[in-house]
Amino acid sequence: MTGVLRSAITGVGSFLPAAEVTNDDLSKFVDTSDSWIVERTGIKSRRQAGPGETTSDLAAAASLEALSAAGRRADDIDLIVVATTTPDLTFPATATIVQRKIGAPICVAFDVQAVCSGFIYALAVADNFIARGLSKCALVIGAETMTRLMDWTDRGTCVLFGDGAGAVVLEARPGRGDTQDRGILGFSLRADGTKQDLLYVDGGPSATGTVGKLRMQGNQVFRHAVVNISEAVIAAADTAGVALADVDWFIPHQANQRILEGVARRLGIDGSKVISTVSQHANTSAASVPLAMAAGIADGRIKPGQLLLLEAMGGGLTWGAVVLRL
Ligand code: ACO
Repeated sequence: MTGVLRSAITGVGSFLPAAEVTNDDLSKFVDTSDSWIVERTGIKSRRQAGPGETTSDLAAAASLEALSAAGRRADDIDLIVVATTTPDLTFPATATIVQRKIGAPICVAFDVQAVCSGFIYALAVADNFIARGLSKCALVIGAETMTRLMDWTDRGTCVLFGDGAGAVVLEARPGRGDTQDRGILGFSLRADGTKQDLLYVDGGPSATGTVGKLRMQGNQVFRHAVVNISEAVIAAADTAGVALADVDWFIPHQANQRILEGVARRLGIDGSKVISTVSQHANTSAASVPLAMAAGIADGRIKPGQLLLLEAMGGGLTWGAVVLRL
């Protein structure tokens, strides 16, 4: 068959830790309130990993659900890419820990670090493996325990983040090379290292020998987010050859409801086409896009054959978008 090799999502899974932390719970030990957090961010609650519960635990649980949804077994997997900024350990890669936990065979396994844009970057990396014939069945995972990076005395950051994982099975499928193909149709990735100071963690193995805590100039990040994400969305749609009006669902990184609405407004996207889980999940960094996708599929809104646009921005700064047909 002529045409191209597409990377089709054949199964989606997610996992959230059991413990729910509401805004009222936080206001017991930090100077904040439910009304401030809801008004500024849309966040009502978030999940927090329990003691000893690691990023790879969340990732493995999401992966098993994705495999089951795809009708695949761990044996079928030849590539594991984990997008995370909160690895279990400095090394080995969380992907190899997930490989062991789900019982995947010897394969290619590594992590991608692009903070909140990690899942978008990881999808693009896996798509290139598949397009070159180097993988037939990949697991792409976004998994985070962001609450481990919080400074619980900093009310400007600690109310914004949560823990969770989402995973997709990505399989090689022949396509005709047009926009009706199932699979990834286009993406755009960006990074601007000059904006590091806006959002970073103040520790690391080489710089301090410590894990560090998340630091953010929230209002500066906000300013860049709407402009950067909008530009990446337009670039990804152009690359894919689709019009934004043809997109069935926008699945944004879930950082802040006001950013979601700002991007939708700037691009003329109807709010009814935007999947939002920020109220329940808060910002789960690389996990937020696959978690939102899983939620939209589980409640029946997102259906096979529909055109999806995924986007994110995070520390680095990094940002990007992916267009795919489910
Ligand atoms: N509760 C109550 N008051 C607070 C809180 C809080 N949790 N946090 C900050 N404030 C106060 C500040 O101290 C400040 O008080 P002051 O005026 O007395 O100094 C006031 O609220 C306003 O602070 P700002 O930071 O200017 O508030 P802003 O309206 O910008 O909202 C927020 C802050 C919600 C962080 C917003 O800037 C934002 O969402 N930015 C984007 C951040 C983001 O999404 N980052 C993640 C994207 S990338 C990634 O996901 C890693």
